[in-house]
Amino acid sequence: MAAVTEQLLLPHEQHRRRPARVLAVTVSVAVVLLLLLVVVPASLLRRTLLGAPSTDRVALTLLAGAKEKGAVCLDGTPPGYHLQRGSGEGADRWLVHLEGGGWCSTVKECSDRRLSSQGSSNFMRSIRFMGNGILGGDQLQNPDFYNWNKVYVRYCDGASFSGDAEAQAEDGTTLYFRGLRIYEAVIDELMEKGLASATQALFTGCSAGALSMMLHCDDFRARFPQEVSVKCFADAGFFIDEKDISGKRSLWSLYDRVIHLQNVRKVLPKDCLANKEPTECFFPAELIKSIRTPMFILNPSYDSWQIRNVLVPDSSAPDKSWLSCKENIRNCNSTQVEVLNGLRNKMVNDLKVVEDKEDWGMFIDSCFTHCQSLSGISWHSPTSPRLENKTIAEAVGDWHSGRSQGAKEIDCKYQCNPTCNSLPPPRDVTAFDRVEIY
Ligand SMILES: *[C@@H]1O[C@H](CO)[C@@H](O)[C@H](O)[C@H]1NC(C)=O
Ligand SMILES: *[C@@H]1O[C@H](CO)[C@@H](O)[C@H](O)[C@H]1NC(C)=O
Repeated sequence: MAAVTEQLLLPHEQHRRRPARVLAVTVSVAVVLLLLLVVVPASLLRRTLLGAPSTDRVALTLLAGAKEKGAVCLDGTPPGYHLQRGSGEGADRWLVHLEGGGWCSTVKECSDRRLSSQGSSNFMRSIRFMGNGILGGDQLQNPDFYNWNKVYVRYCDGASFSGDAEAQAEDGTTLYFRGLRIYEAVIDELMEKGLASATQALFTGCSAGALSMMLHCDDFRARFPQEVSVKCFADAGFFIDEKDISGKRSLWSLYDRVIHLQNVRKVLPKDCLANKEPTECFFPAELIKSIRTPMFILNPSYDSWQIRNVLVPDSSAPDKSWLSCKENIRNCNSTQVEVLNGLRNKMVNDLKVVEDKEDWGMFIDSCFTHCQSLSGISWHSPTSPRLENKTIAEAVGDWHSGRSQGAKEIDCKYQCNPTCNSLPPPRDVTAFDRVEIY
């Protein structure tokens, strides 16, 4: 029962807890579902409910020799990934996706992660690539990548695959900050499993995973011969160094703690470190100045995660009206929309360097959402956000394949894009910014 519930969760289909009056309806629906479960085979049920072809579970592979390499999750268990083999023309093409999930910035926060898959592979299970986004296997819904080899690398270090240190937890046990070693050991192992002979590779990630990808994009590219097409695709990882509504640089402070706690340094670009603080060099606005590999940046300019956690974090003591505004942009009054526009303006400004980068692409829509490539609703559907009448899948596919050269689209301000209206506001993310794709 629990397993089936899990499969039905998709980012845009999860809603916040309903008020009590909806409870009755919910219960009736649950009873019907329960009855269906008894009489209908699970795969058929899934197809009926989601209109999607059923796909097989993709097993969790634990990294071999993790302990010897010191490439371990926060609790010392081996890290893991899910590898689904490609077929047909996709057999020698590889998509490598780094999982997201925020950061842990104190010994306490990192210790707590050991009780979840975000800090321990003891809690990781097999998954299904069934969100019909970029990891989906349906050609109609994922025309450019459906038959590729796909790897979903689990995130269990709390510092965007970039730290290298140890600490002692309050209970006296060792906390391992080995994200950098995890990245290196996992890519090494994938190379042996066929990645080394890829003819095309796309390196991606969403949210904190997109930041991880940006930190490693050029290194990833350097592992392949020049004639191999290697590109990077960042989904919702363009985190902005913006003050919150109380005037504090909350995200900057968070990054500052992460970098010092976990000893993040080696991955930061040298030309940035030469004249800026390491913390500054952890922000995409600085990272993209140094990245030489072609990259596509997908980000909503009213990024719901950033509005909730950067602009209006709980520590900024938002009043009732701000709480309902950050829950759903439609609840924001005109003064608040102006504040949100400030975040957008900073993002648009930080992205100016991309204009000069020939092989790069952008899709900066003005929707209130977060990761958009993992769910079919935003990736490629009749109700997807569109810019220049293209869905995200079309824009990314055209850029990737060279069908159209370097499309860089920045949407007009909220509320001018009617294609944003069909997206429900994403569920609130509490402890971690966890994107369930299964
Ligand atoms: C919008 O809400 C904020 C926060 O509660 C409040 O300070 C402001 O006066 C409101 N603006 C308008 C135009 O209602
Ligand atoms: C937008 O694209 C859809 C199909 O993707 C097409 O049917 C429609 O005519 C296009 N609209 C415009 C205005 O080009």
